[in-house]
Amino acid sequence: MKVHDHAMMIGDRRLTPGGWNFSPGSSMPFLTRYGMDEAERRRRMAFLGIAESDAANVRDLRDAFAARAREFAEGFYEHLLADPHTRAYLRDPEQLRKLKGLQAEYFSHLLDGVFDVPYFEGRLRVGVTHQRIGLSPVWYLGAYNQYIQLTFPVFVRAFGDDMEKVLPLLLSLVKVIFLDMGLALDTYFQEATAQLRQRNDELQQALGLYWQAQRREEQLHKMASHEIRGGLAAVITGLEDLQDSVGPNMDAADAEQLTNLTRRCWKLSELLGEMLAASPTGQGASLLDTGPVFEALYARFGLYAEGRDVKLALPAKAPRVWADAVQLREAFANLIGNAVNYLDKEPGRVEVTWHDDGDFYVFCVADNGPGVPEAIRDRLFEPFVRGLGEAGRRPGTGLGLYFVRTVVEQGGGRVWVESTSGEGSRFYFTVPRGPPRANDEGSHEYIAGAALGGDDNHAPAGG
Ligand code: HEM
Repeated sequence: MKVHDHAMMIGDRRLTPGGWNFSPGSSMPFLTRYGMDEAERRRRMAFLGIAESDAANVRDLRDAFAARAREFAEGFYEHLLADPHTRAYLRDPEQLRKLKGLQAEYFSHLLDGVFDVPYFEGRLRVGVTHQRIGLSPVWYLGAYNQYIQLTFPVFVRAFGDDMEKVLPLLLSLVKVIFLDMGLALDTYFQEATAQLRQRNDELQQALGLYWQAQRREEQLHKMASHEIRGGLAAVITGLEDLQDSVGPNMDAADAEQLTNLTRRCWKLSELLGEMLAASPTGQGASLLDTGPVFEALYARFGLYAEGRDVKLALPAKAPRVWADAVQLREAFANLIGNAVNYLDKEPGRVEVTWHDDGDFYVFCVADNGPGVPEAIRDRLFEPFVRGLGEAGRRPGTGLGLYFVRTVVEQGGGRVWVESTSGEGSRFYFTVPRGPPRANDEGSHEYIAGAALGGDDNHAPAGG
C-alpha cells in the first residue's frame, strides 16, 4: 500500500497530522449558528474515542476506496433508486450523475482523517441541504448503512481477508461514520428548532396584532355605546321634553319639525344599536337562537362554494345555546370553509347536525372530503398544522382550527375530529345549553336550558 503524505492544504493553512485544526474559520455560518465551538467539537470526538491513530487508520483505507469509488457511488444510488421514498428525490438524471461524483468525494473526504473546522462546517452544510429538501432523517441516516454495506467488503478484500490487519481500520472508520451521522442529526434538530421558533414568533406576532385590533375595536365599541349612544339618548330626552313643554304652544309646522327631528334621532339610535350588535369583537356569551347563525352561514356558503358542485345541509331545527353569536358563527364558518377547501370530489357534501348531550349540545360538521391524514389528526387543532389539499396545496393560514378550538374552549366546550381516509371527516364541538354556574369547587358548571323556560326547541339526535 502506498504511503501518503497526508498533510494537506485547506484554505491557506497547512494541516499536519500532528493535531486537529480546531480554530474557527472566518465564515462558518453553521458552526456559529449551532454554537458548535471548539470545546463542543472536542467533546464529540472524545466521546467517540476518535484519536490520531484513528485518523491514520482511515487514511490507510484511501487507496482501496479510490480504486472502487465509481462502483461505490453506483451501488449507493442503486439502493436509493430501488426504494420509492428515496427515488422520489432523484428524478433528474443530470443531477443524479453529479450526485454520484459528489457522493464518492464525500466518502473519500471521511478517509482523509482531517477533522478541522471546514470539515465540520461542510458536514453540517450537507446535512442542512437534506433537511431543506424535506428528506426525513430516517432515509438520510439510513443511507449511512450503505456506506458500511458497500465499502467494508471492499476493504476486507483489499487487505487479503486479513481480519487482524483490517479490523482496527474498520473500527476507526465506524467511529468517523458515527461522527458524521451525529452532525447530520444535529442539523435536523437545529433546523427544526429554528423553524419552530420562527413559527412561534410569527404566531406571537399574529396574536399581538389580533389583540391590538381587538382592543381598538373594544375601545371604539365602548366609545360608540357610551359617548354617542348616551349623547343621542340625552338629545332624544331633551327633544321629547321640549315636545311636552312647548309643543302644545307651537304652530303646526314647527311642531311637525320637532316630531320629525325626534323620530330621526330615534332612527339614528336604532342604526347605531344594529352596528354595535354586528361588531366583530362579539358581544360575549348570551342565550342565543342558532337559527340566525345558520342563516348567516347559508348566505356565506355561496362564497366558499363558488363554481363547485357542493351542497350544504343545515339542521331543520336550530337549538338555543349559551354562546357569543359572532364567535359561534365564525367557528362554524371556519369548519365549513375548511371542508369546502379540502374537498377532493364532486358532488361534495357538507352537513351540519347536532344532538343533545346533557348540559351541552354537540354540533357536527361532516364532509365527504379526503379525510384528515392520521399523522396530523392529534395535532390538528394546534397552530400551523395543515393537511394537503388538491394537488398538494396547503389551503388556509393554518390558524383556522386553532381559532375554532380557542373559541370553543373559551366557551367551556371541547372540539375533536373523527375521520376515515378517503371518505371524509366529522368535526365535533360542544356548546353549553345555558350559562355557567359556580359549583362548590369554584369552577363553572353549565345549567342546561337555563332561562329557556323548558327545552322547547329540541330536535332529535342528528338535528
Ligand atoms: C449517507 C447519506 C448521504 C450523504 C452523505 C449525502 C451526501 C450528499 C451531498 C454531499 C450532496 C451535495 C450537497 C451539497 O453540496 O450541498 C447531496 C445532495 C443531495 N442528496 Fe444526498 N446524501 C445522503 C443521503 C441522501 C439520500 C438518502 C437522499 C434521498 C434520495 C439524498 C438526496 C440528495 C439530493 C436530492 C441532493 C441534491 C440537493 C440539492 O442540491 O437540491 N441524499 N447529498
